Amino acid sequence: MSYDFDTPVDRSGTYSYKWDIGEGELPMWVADMDFRTAPEITEALTRRAAHGVFGYSTIPDEWREAYRDWWRDRHGIEYDLRAFVFATGVIPIISSCVRKLTTPGENVVIMTPVYNVFFNCIRNNGRNVLECPLAYEGGRYSVDFGRLGAALADKQTTLLLLCNPQNPAGIIWDRETLAKIGELACDNGVTVIADEIHCDLTDPGCEYVPFASASEKCRDNCVVCIAPTKTFNLAGIQTAAAVIPNPRLRHKVWRALNTDECGEPGSFAIAAAVTAFKQGGAWLEELREYIFRNKQLVSDYLRENIPQIKLVPSQATYLLWLDCTAFGMPVHELWKFIRKNTGLFLSDGSIYGGSNTHLRMNIACPASQVRDALARLKRAADMLLQK
Ligand SMILES: Cc1ncc(COP(=O)(O)O)c(C=O)c1O
Repeated sequence: MSYDFDTPVDRSGTYSYKWDIGEGELPMWVADMDFRTAPEITEALTRRAAHGVFGYSTIPDEWREAYRDWWRDRHGIEYDLRAFVFATGVIPIISSCVRKLTTPGENVVIMTPVYNVFFNCIRNNGRNVLECPLAYEGGRYSVDFGRLGAALADKQTTLLLLCNPQNPAGIIWDRETLAKIGELACDNGVTVIADEIHCDLTDPGCEYVPFASASEKCRDNCVVCIAPTKTFNLAGIQTAAAVIPNPRLRHKVWRALNTDECGEPGSFAIAAAVTAFKQGGAWLEELREYIFRNKQLVSDYLRENIPQIKLVPSQATYLLWLDCTAFGMPVHELWKFIRKNTGLFLSDGSIYGGSNTHLRMNIACPASQVRDALARLKRAADMLLQK
């Protein structure tokens, strides 16, 4: 490997949310990475900082072109340049769309377990969460179309939030599934927000399917949320894009982002995104390989040492979804037990809805840290199993 993912980076003193924890605790929770971003990006931002003037920014064509080219070359979908709208984050886009595309008291559908902040985007705006649990059989998830069809047919339902690929279980939805979701939504007059923030972080050789590429109905009825922030560990730069092929819908979303004051880039937002998409490809390839190896490390370790914990098979994200049903306790209790007794700080799976048996583990860190986490997990499991 030509990039270094092995050497631990000390994040103390950087106001890191993830690392703002107790002495001796090991954070494997919030979805950011303990790796430095691609050096090409750091160099571009250093140059921008050295300029020393941090006035208001424009959104140049170069920004749109960088996104368009990356999605065309990597993900096989060519969006019109006009389809891209800048935003300061994916969650700001979603919250803004909830306010603009629905009215208070209407239903917004989510398929759980799913990224917990989706709940906040809906509830904080006085809309109703209509939870549609995924089917879970034999350790695998799939869309329960019976439930989804009924949820979308409800006349109070106006919006569907789709996570593609899916956080927390790392599922890549196939084209047929996406087309079916798109058809049901369109036929019921429900707009789809496809949150594709994790789309670049797939296992080597695996590709996600852009929602807008699945069918005409999907393309005409969606707001796609994309960003370089998960892929290149730039969450703190606050740079994202809404892609809306349908011009009428795009106008609405553009107005919404403008009204909510989340449509203007900070001084580093454009340089970070343009450099990431123009120069970050080689770094990303190595990162995907490294994360995949970490996943194999966890998978092998669990099989050999803690067979009670089942790793849900996944193809995307650096988040692992651990089925802890065998411990026979509510997952919040299990999460607390592990943290208290070993300092390992995972995510409590109950916050994602639809599950009271899973923990989420973030493995975007040096392999040495993953080994430390596994040893802590084993200690906790031994204590529980001896009880
Ligand atoms: C599915 C998903 N969407 C959005 C976000 C956050 O996006 P942003 O920081 O751009 O608001 C996350 C972060 O973990 C995520 O997992």
